[in-house]
Amino acid sequence: MAKEMTQGIILSLGSVNADFQVRVDQKIGETTTVLARDFRRLSGGKAANVAYLASKLGAPASIIARVGDDDLSLQALGALKEMAIDLRHVEKVQGATTGFSMIMVPADGKKNIMLSTNANDAWEESDHQKVRVAIAEAPEGSVLVVDYEIPAFIVEVAIKAAHEKGFSIVLDPSPPVRVNKALFFMVDYIVPDASEAEGLTGSRATSAEEGKKAALKLLQDGVRHAIIKLEDGGCVIANAEIILHVPPVEVEVVDTTGAGDAFAGALAVAILEKRTLKDMACFAVAASHAAVTAYGSQPAYPARERLEELFDQISAKVKKLHAK
Ligand code: RIB
Repeated sequence: MAKEMTQGIILSLGSVNADFQVRVDQKIGETTTVLARDFRRLSGGKAANVAYLASKLGAPASIIARVGDDDLSLQALGALKEMAIDLRHVEKVQGATTGFSMIMVPADGKKNIMLSTNANDAWEESDHQKVRVAIAEAPEGSVLVVDYEIPAFIVEVAIKAAHEKGFSIVLDPSPPVRVNKALFFMVDYIVPDASEAEGLTGSRATSAEEGKKAALKLLQDGVRHAIIKLEDGGCVIANAEIILHVPPVEVEVVDTTGAGDAFAGALAVAILEKRTLKDMACFAVAASHAAVTAYGSQPAYPARERLEELFDQISAKVKKLHAK
């Protein structure tokens, strides 16, 4: 059952892409030509995926992003329009090419992505005001979810504006090379995967214990809640009072593309729904579990009923970790 929603919305700032996805049977790089199959043209990009998942779960979502004025933008935006996501702050940049990703999914489901950011990087210094306006007009209680597949200065403007409005801020630190730790004191939730956690803290989260170490470093750096997505599909969530380990449950892994975005989107929905910290983490883990069980990002995202089923199974396994 859906919990009572606040008036807030999910503001999703970051990349909107056209995804070109295939399955491959060989490891990339082993031969010059890799044969592929199951070609799909999909809407993708982190901000698009977050908003899609939120909208599928019944939360109002608005995207702040840039696409080109080309045919790829139709692919990138089509599924988002069908979900009635607010696209008023998605600007078509004249002469720019929409961002696109080439995604190869091997038999183990662990995707490889090559991203050409294109219009996602077509922001000027003078665009500050547009980002501020988009955030200023969002209702009280809104949640900003932001990734770094756009210029870092825009992420910074958005975090500051959302912080001033008292919105919750979820930061997907991807790619970690662009991350500015000076903003961490304004970040309510940071959601790195194991390799991003290594980029940010030097510790690769190969286990819950290692995840805890990485989370504690991020808390020291100033974030309010550090959530490390572990390679096994579980997570560690830590704040100044508590550290929890959310272990995975068994699901068949078909394709990991967009699982992290499902995690961030579901976390944002759980924040809007004012769930407890434990429940937020379980809800996010449940969403990413569901997302890996089918091919593609958005087409794999679960309806609320499926998510709540997984939530119940995951919730029963949560363990408390000690700080030392
Ligand atoms: O996280 C998955 C997304 O990353 C894909 O949709 C792709 O476009 C890249 O932005």
